[in-house]
Amino acid sequence: MKRKLGILISGRGSNMQALVEAARLADSPYTVALVASDKPEAAGLAWASDHGIATFARSPKGLAKAEYEAAIDAALRDAGVEAIALAGYMRLLSDAFVARWRGRIVNIHPSLLPLYKGLDTHKRAIEGGDSHGGCSVHIVTEELDGGEVLGQARVPILPGDTPEALAERVLAEEHALYPRIVADWLRR
Ligand code: GRF
Repeated sequence: MKRKLGILISGRGSNMQALVEAARLADSPYTVALVASDKPEAAGLAWASDHGIATFARSPKGLAKAEYEAAIDAALRDAGVEAIALAGYMRLLSDAFVARWRGRIVNIHPSLLPLYKGLDTHKRAIEGGDSHGGCSVHIVTEELDGGEVLGQARVPILPGDTPEALAERVLAEEHALYPRIVADWLRR
């Protein structure tokens, strides 16, 4: 029986697309049951729906955080979602939401955690003189970008690199890493 994955996005959702493509493989341990967003205009929502995936959008504007999250939670549960992948979801989940889904939410973060939690990761890696940037897939806990790291990909930083150029090379690695690690995680 394949596991049902829900994916939360806020934007273009290129990592979501990589997860959806990988779910089509016969030996994938998961299917994508829902793509949900806090941004009704997120480009990834239209892509998902064009590809036959159920979508849900609710703007948090004018809602208490608990009310907004209850709507997302209900949509995920109605779709039978068992595990959640965050893919460029730009909103902090409340402790209560994380507790309800304890151990069942993963995220991809564009740095070699525990280095550079939060924003501007590529700029910080370049300015820090690091030899490599990269990306990490981790379990989501109450601590921002803080849960167990399940897998990483390292990307060399080149002389004269810019945050944009590094981000593009890291993103290509994210698309390979995320589906592989999510599949391993859901098989374990
Ligand atoms: C990626 O850099 C990812 O690491 C970060 O947000 C970005 C999302 O890009 N969490 P996309 O929406 O998946 O294209």
